Amino acid sequence: MTTSMRGDVKDISLAPRGKGRIEWSAKEMPVLRLIRERFTQDQPLKGVRMSGCLHITTETANLAITLKAGGADLNLCASNPLSTQDDVAAALISEYGIPTFAIKGEDEQTYYRHINAVLDHKPNMTMDDGCDLVSTLHTTRTELIPSIIGGMEETTTGVIRLRSMERDGVLRFPVLAVNESDTKHLFDNRYGTGQSSIDAIIRSTNILLAGRTIVVFGYGWCGRGVASRAHGMGANVIVTEVDPVRALEAVMDGYRVMAGIEAAEVGDIFISMMRSTSRHWKRCRSRNAAYATSSMSTPMPTGGRFTCSPRGVLSISLRRKAIRRASWI
Ligand SMILES: NC(=O)c1ccc[n+]([C@@H]2O[C@H](COP(=O)([O-])OP(=O)(O)OC[C@H]3O[C@@H](n4cnc5c(N)ncnc54)[C@H](O)[C@@H]3O)[C@@H](O)[C@H]2O)c1
Repeated sequence: MTTSMRGDVKDISLAPRGKGRIEWSAKEMPVLRLIRERFTQDQPLKGVRMSGCLHITTETANLAITLKAGGADLNLCASNPLSTQDDVAAALISEYGIPTFAIKGEDEQTYYRHINAVLDHKPNMTMDDGCDLVSTLHTTRTELIPSIIGGMEETTTGVIRLRSMERDGVLRFPVLAVNESDTKHLFDNRYGTGQSSIDAIIRSTNILLAGRTIVVFGYGWCGRGVASRAHGMGANVIVTEVDPVRALEAVMDGYRVMAGIEAAEVGDIFISMMRSTSRHWKRCRSRNAAYATSSMSTPMPTGGRFTCSPRGVLSISLRRKAIRRASWI
């Protein structure tokens, strides 16, 4: 549903429900509340045009409301089509006056149309979760770069892309790597993604994790969180890791560590906390095992998709009948 210049959301009538959930989650965000009070008085972002490509969830909504309270002229699109909460997107437009372009499950064409729609705002600042705004600006929307002061990037993958642009000398404005902040990766990546990934699997499959063999690909911040939560639920956890020090850490933390292709033979559930390799994926697929990933919308072998979004919120789209047919249920 297109709502003229103000955004593109699934159903604007979902707004009251979205508002209720945004207000509920605000209760868990006391620091942001203090910042909002200060911003309302000081107006530090007065006149600044901002565009964000972020997970459209209740938490991001509270961030956006805070930025707007600080004077920002802000609009948003979704950084992951499957984490979008349609009621929140509707509320952002009709309850808070923040133009939002996000529809849960939107296809690739719509995804990039929405990215371009927020860039049409001619931002002075960008906010990314995965570097798609910055990379679009540096490829097809270069005419907008002169008016940009800088940007910020939330996640590990985005920071990796930015570092590579910086190394190649093509990054044309400064970007704050929020992910490098201790209060981001130590908590959001480890505890938020750790919980939401496990939550996604349980809610979508309703299986008992105790006694299952769960393979965690990558023992970085997210991998550590997922492994410890899976272990706490009684799963036998196997870790695969290319960095020898992190692999050793996983051994010392009590997990079995092995090559991904070997783990693909024995696991029941696979959770990728890196960029998965097609070799592992093909092997898991041939065994009809479950596969989830922290940052991509990944087709499930049984015919659905898994995706996880930050801070304990998740989004799953699974064809449940197909899932029940799978051998691991
Ligand atoms: N959806 C979310 O809420 C959310 C939140 C934070 C991070 N992320 C994403 O999760 C992913 C992991 O983030 P992180 O902060 O844990 O990153 P990280 O860099 O701390 O960890 C990634 C780990 O994967 C390992 N690795 C890379 N290739 C490998 C391979 N082929 N086999 C085995 N191990 C391999 C690396 O050595 C590293 O230890 C990133 O894509 C990030 O953007 C998603």
